[in-house]
Order: sequence, then structure tokens, then C-alpha cells
Amino acid sequence: MGLLSAVMLLVRRVQNPIVTCCRHYRVKKKWATTLPHVASSRFALQYFDTNYSLQFQDLWPSIRISLLSEQKYGALLNNFSRQEMVAQHLTSLHSTDFLSEARQVIGESPEMMDEDRLSPEPSSTSMEESGRDTVTSLSSTAFTCYTFPRGDISRFPSPRVDMSGLLEYYLMDAASLLPVLALDVQPGHSVLDLCAAPGGKTLALLMQNCRFLAANDKSASRTQRLHKVLHSFIPRHLFKEDRVRVTSWDGTEWPDQGVFDRVLVDAPCTADRHSLLEEENNIFHRMRMKERQMLPALQTALLVSGLRAVAPGGDVVYATCSLSQLQNELVVERALDIADSEHGIRASIRDLRPFQEIFRNTFNFHTNCRIGELVVPHLTANFGPMYFCKLRRAC
Ligand SMILES: C[S@@+](CC[C@H](N)C(=O)[O-])C[C@H]1O[C@@H](n2cnc3c(N)ncnc32)[C@H](O)[C@@H]1O
Repeated sequence: MGLLSAVMLLVRRVQNPIVTCCRHYRVKKKWATTLPHVASSRFALQYFDTNYSLQFQDLWPSIRISLLSEQKYGALLNNFSRQEMVAQHLTSLHSTDFLSEARQVIGESPEMMDEDRLSPEPSSTSMEESGRDTVTSLSSTAFTCYTFPRGDISRFPSPRVDMSGLLEYYLMDAASLLPVLALDVQPGHSVLDLCAAPGGKTLALLMQNCRFLAANDKSASRTQRLHKVLHSFIPRHLFKEDRVRVTSWDGTEWPDQGVFDRVLVDAPCTADRHSLLEEENNIFHRMRMKERQMLPALQTALLVSGLRAVAPGGDVVYATCSLSQLQNELVVERALDIADSEHGIRASIRDLRPFQEIFRNTFNFHTNCRIGELVVPHLTANFGPMYFCKLRRAC
């Protein structure tokens, strides 16, 4: 090697040590044995510290400690199972149905029903509209979810199997039910759950007595899990009568367009809580860097697909379990642009701010969310993160 080439190589190595390292350790096995291994959860924490301390500023230490602490669960009662004794049992544990409490909040504050309160304040985005539907949706909510009061970190016992072989309740992050409530499914609706596995939100949607539910998930293994969950909670006749159909399509290429009354896009995301606590299936694993970087593009494509699948006048709810603006607000804005410019579909953002008031006893909402709503974890109400935003396709 000539002197000049040697110097150039040295300069390249100094400028780009990672590339140099890749060249040196071409064999994957060597990567594993020679490079210091940073656990994915640790890397996730570093990443969140860098990004979320800017996004949330003074609030970040409180959210951080909550994310690292044990999360709270809710018990979604199985409407298809015999429930009287179950509800009594859960009440005896001092848990309560958070939806009944929310109804009381609405009832106790009649001014909430006033049109003025429901219409949005002059908003940071010109796309937001009046959102009366967010309140009336509670009156048609057919499911029940028990949670322990703020500050109470008790855990629910595992559910039992009833006489018909169905499980009595499903344990889930209760904040996951907020996107389902925002979707406001009415009896007789046809609903698409585009990213459905493992199926917590699918169960809640089914309890809303919809006419037809298409539950889809691209991952074959997760679709199997979805099947298992549905068969543990839903009577077989629902499948036989074709009221529930499970598929495993790529949601970005969903074929039916303009047909559903409601579409839920519960997109794959950095799953912030999971990424901090679990090594298995962690999106911050170094081998998944590309996949992680591509998440906003995938999320946008899924939301555009949801907007194409919903009928004119119908609603789409976009949700993630991440705190990231890149995966939340920015995805919604980009999807609205693409739906309009590439598919001629116009949609508007619905105002969900009444949720903050109605569910204040149970969840801790971020008050500065530019578009949509965000439940942020708090030690006294350790649910979430859960971001959700509702879009209505123009007629
Ligand atoms: C946040 S999880 C959904 C959780 C689920 N809705 C629930 O409440 O249990 C996101 C899901 O999206 C699925 N997914 C990822 N890419 C997809 C795609 N292109 N089309 C459809 N589903 C996809 C993943 O397999 C994963 O199960």
C-alpha cells in the first residue's frame, strides 16, 4: 500500500470508526464476541433520555421513573362470560369500573354537556373540529373495566375459566381502552382492526356489538396469538356466523377501500415501556436499527391505508404506545397530507380534549399535546404511554 493510500485509510478510520469496525469484524459471530454488548433496554433508556428530556423537559424525570416502575393493569370484563359474581369479586378487592366513574364525572358536571365546552378552544391546529361524539360515545359503551384507585398498586388475580370455557376478564393496560372509546363503535357497525394482535383492543371492540369485525395482523406468529386470545374469550358462534374474521395481511396493502364504518390503526411503535423492561423482542436491539428507523414511514403508510379503508363520513383512530412526537403527531400530519395529495381523501382531526376531564380520576394526560391525546405514566396512575388521535374522513 502506498503512503498516500495508507494515510487516506487512517483518515477514514478516524472520521468513521463504526464503518472501520464493521470492515474489521465482517463475521457476525465476531460482532457478538468482540464488541461490548449494550443491552437493548439500556440503549433504549439512553435514547429516551436524550429525546424525551427535550420533548417533556421538567416532566421527563417523573415519566422516566414511572416507566421504569411496575405498570398498572385494568381487568376488562368478558361480556360473553357469566359476570355477576366476577364483578362482585373485583369490587370486593376495592377496584372499580373506571367507565362508571367517568359517567359520574359527566353527570356531576352538567356544564360538560354544554355545546360551548365541547367545542374546541381556538386550537393550535386549524384541522381540529367540534367533538361532541366523544361524550355521547360513553352512553353506548358496552364494556366494563375495573382498575384500582390512584396510588393503589394492587394486582388483579389471574382470570378463571367460566362454565362455558371462556375466561372471565382480560388483563391489559386500561389506557389501551381509550382509543377504542374514541372510535365510538355503534351496534351494527362494520369495523376494521388493522394491527390487532395480541387482541386486547379487538376484544373491547367486539363487546361493542358491532355487526362485523375484521381483525388483521401482518405477523403470522402474533396472528396465532390473536386467534388464541379470541377463542379464549369469544363464543364460537361469532366465528361461524362470520361476525369476526381474522386475517394476516400487510396492513399497508389492505384491499377493501371505503367500506368500513370504523377503523382502528394501533400501529407498531417503539413500545416505550416494553423496550425499557424487556430484552426479548426489543426494537432497540442493534440488529433492528433499520426497522426502528423505518417505523414512522410504516406508521404513516398504515394510517393512510386506514383512511382509504374507511367509508366517507366514517372514523379512524390512530394509536401507539410511544411518547414520541415523531411516531405520533408527525405521523398523523404526514398521513393527512399523503391521503389528500395521493388519494384525494380529505380527513379532519376530531377534538378529544373532553377525555382529559372525563377520565382525570384514572389517567394522567399530557396537557400540551398538539394533536390528539397522550396518556403519560405517573407513579400514582401508572398506565400508558398511550397516544390516540381520531380522524373523520370527509363525506
Ligand atoms: C401495538 S401492536 C397491536 C396491539 C393490539 N392492537 C392490541 O391491542 O393487542 C402492533 C401490531 O402491528 C403488527 N404489524 C406490524 N406491521 C404491520 C403491517 N404492515 N400490517 C399489519 N400489522 C402490522 C405487529 O405484528 C403488532 O402485532
